[in-house]
Amino acid sequence: MTKVSGFSKLSKAEKINWVCEHYLKDHQNAEQIIKQYLSDDVKLQKLHDEFAENTITNYFLPFGIAPNFLIDGELFCIPMVIEESSVVAAASKAAKFWLDKGGFTTEVLKTTKVGQVHFKYSGDFETLKQTFEDNKEVFWEETKAITKNMEKRGGGISDIILIDKTKDLDQYYQLHCTFETADAMGANFINSCLEQFGKTLEKITQPDLDVEVVLCILSNYVPDCIVRAAVECPIPELGETPEEAYSFAKRFKYAIDIANVEPYRAVTHNKGIMNGIDAVVLATGNDFRAIEAGVHAYAAKDGSYKSLTHASIKNDRFKFWIDVPIAVGTVGGLTSLHPLVKVALQMLGSPSAKGLMKIIAVAGLAQNFAAVNSLVTTGIKKGHMKMHLLNILNQFDASNEEKKQAVDYFKTHTATHSEVVEFINSIRQ
Ligand code: MEV
Repeated sequence: MTKVSGFSKLSKAEKINWVCEHYLKDHQNAEQIIKQYLSDDVKLQKLHDEFAENTITNYFLPFGIAPNFLIDGELFCIPMVIEESSVVAAASKAAKFWLDKGGFTTEVLKTTKVGQVHFKYSGDFETLKQTFEDNKEVFWEETKAITKNMEKRGGGISDIILIDKTKDLDQYYQLHCTFETADAMGANFINSCLEQFGKTLEKITQPDLDVEVVLCILSNYVPDCIVRAAVECPIPELGETPEEAYSFAKRFKYAIDIANVEPYRAVTHNKGIMNGIDAVVLATGNDFRAIEAGVHAYAAKDGSYKSLTHASIKNDRFKFWIDVPIAVGTVGGLTSLHPLVKVALQMLGSPSAKGLMKIIAVAGLAQNFAAVNSLVTTGIKKGHMKMHLLNILNQFDASNEEKKQAVDYFKTHTATHSEVVEFINSIRQ
């Protein structure tokens, strides 16, 4: 197609024009759609334009609410940003189910964040180790300007350890650094510290030791930043009759056991959990790619990919819980910039980072409860069908009356795409 140089310097109108002209067949229609999503509020639009680069418009996602979440005795209304139908409905259903059974309990187990300085060194390890030990304090001294504010908020650098990785890769060593970042996600803080550590490392090793710093970056693998969310109740409370309740508990636990031993199932099982987690992470302005990467690595920490949730049946009680790594912030980044993120955080009672970790874990657990509940009872199609049907109807610009007729009809018929299209055509004739 067409090459361009200096694209970033074009005005927004010029960018839209260029992309439409060179890459979109129906130039005028595309331009109209792109412009339709721009805000009339100039200040708001400018704010959004400046979140990223080369912005030409906004991309809307639904912002939904899942009410009735009882978490550690307090009622929450959880904001969820997600495009997939049925997720918010499933979360709300799970919240309601557990509302009169004590709700969700949570506990933040650890909050340690990680960053590493990866470097090459060709000399003797003992000499490097001695130099590092003799100068360890210099790493703290030389990052004082960066850590000052974080320390006031209760965070800072926890430890720096030197690791010999030469068994895995020739000449590879690292400084494995741990941090506490209080209510911030901490990416900028950690990366700033690490870049200074890289300089400090070069300084303390030169000119005698041949150290080459390759890269300094935080890790999104945070197996020591873990939150637990749980629900539990006497088994008879799980069904209309004791038989139904016991049968449900056993099938449910068996489904979790399957996800523990079968990676094909575990990936979909955990995807369902991420439906809940990502939706809250997005609504609260956090980095869902970071959370995704860290969560899936954690799910594979024992050498095979497993379920993030666990269930037990003991002493006539059913327990269901999740342990999940969630590194999020409630200050800094988008949290203080995006107006809707501010509203979402207010809706949650302006939580600390730990508070938000708890809410996110609950959303993941609730989502998984709802999905597995459907899967081991009615099957997933039933719950998804109504929204699926409405999506198809919307594609065909169905009127309210047409929607009503279709919903009635498909109560007793399977709503495949072609069946729905046929039904719309038949009522329109
Ligand atoms: C769909 O987005 C998520 C589910 O597939 C999760 C699961 O299978 O547990 C329903």
